[in-house]
Amino acid sequence: MWSFHRWFERHSLILIVGILLVVSIGGLVQITPLFFIESTIERVDGVRPYTPLELAGRQIYIREGCYVCHSQMIRPLRDEVERYGHYSLAAESMYDHPFQWGSKRTGPDLARVGGRYSDEWHRAHLADPRSVVPESVMPPYAFLQRPLNTAHIGEHLAANRTLRVPYTDEQMANASTDVAAQAEPNGEHAYDFQQRYPTAAVRDFDGDPAHVTEMDALIAYLQMLGTGVNFNTYQAEAAGNDR
Ligand code: HEC
Repeated sequence: MWSFHRWFERHSLILIVGILLVVSIGGLVQITPLFFIESTIERVDGVRPYTPLELAGRQIYIREGCYVCHSQMIRPLRDEVERYGHYSLAAESMYDHPFQWGSKRTGPDLARVGGRYSDEWHRAHLADPRSVVPESVMPPYAFLQRPLNTAHIGEHLAANRTLRVPYTDEQMANASTDVAAQAEPNGEHAYDFQQRYPTAAVRDFDGDPAHVTEMDALIAYLQMLGTGVNFNTYQAEAAGNDR
């Protein structure tokens, strides 16, 4: 037995592989069960998949690198909760692929920015941040007032469904009309859209009813952030995660 070990110790590469194997067992024992335990992500009422327009807005958020300056994760610390609201729950980002927790806050956390400002405020702020916050260092995004490219939205939903976001067949089939319907409250598809996404806001987000723009998509996304869960009725214990 010990002579075998001498051989082992004299071959550094084999020793390293052996060490990695032994050390990884501890990690696997801790991490693997999390993929199978039901309560890893507690079920929370109100969390729903993104509508096609919000999903397109989220894509713009990623494309423009908003996450470089903004986080979307409120930590359970008193100063954060007092400033931003209830700390983030795992379930709130369960349909985020990839998640937008971020790692740096040049600007404030956006996890609960939905409903905090009016659409007009977001429009003015995105077009020219210093018009509403004079000391802001955020760059202007006025160019987002251009038509939204919706050609691939169906594929986008399909990709998310592959990752287990529960879009229904009906939602998949109507993605390309739903994406515009959410920003056209008087349009012919608005009613059907609302049936498919009962808790989504249907309105003209960018103040230009004639066109569905990237601004529409981004503001639709920002306005729903953190608004899914009703924290007046939410109870952590009841959801069964405090074991
Ligand atoms: C260079 C860093 C930077 C980038 C990039 C950036 N922001 Fe900001 N953002 C800020 C700063 C700083 C503030 C705080 C001052 C202000 O309100 O403008 C802010 C504020 C905000 C607010 C108001 C938040 C609140 O609670 O008051 C929103 C909404 C916002 N940004 C959205 C965005 C979006 C969407 C993008 C991407 C299109 C983006 N930001 C890109 C720095 C940035």
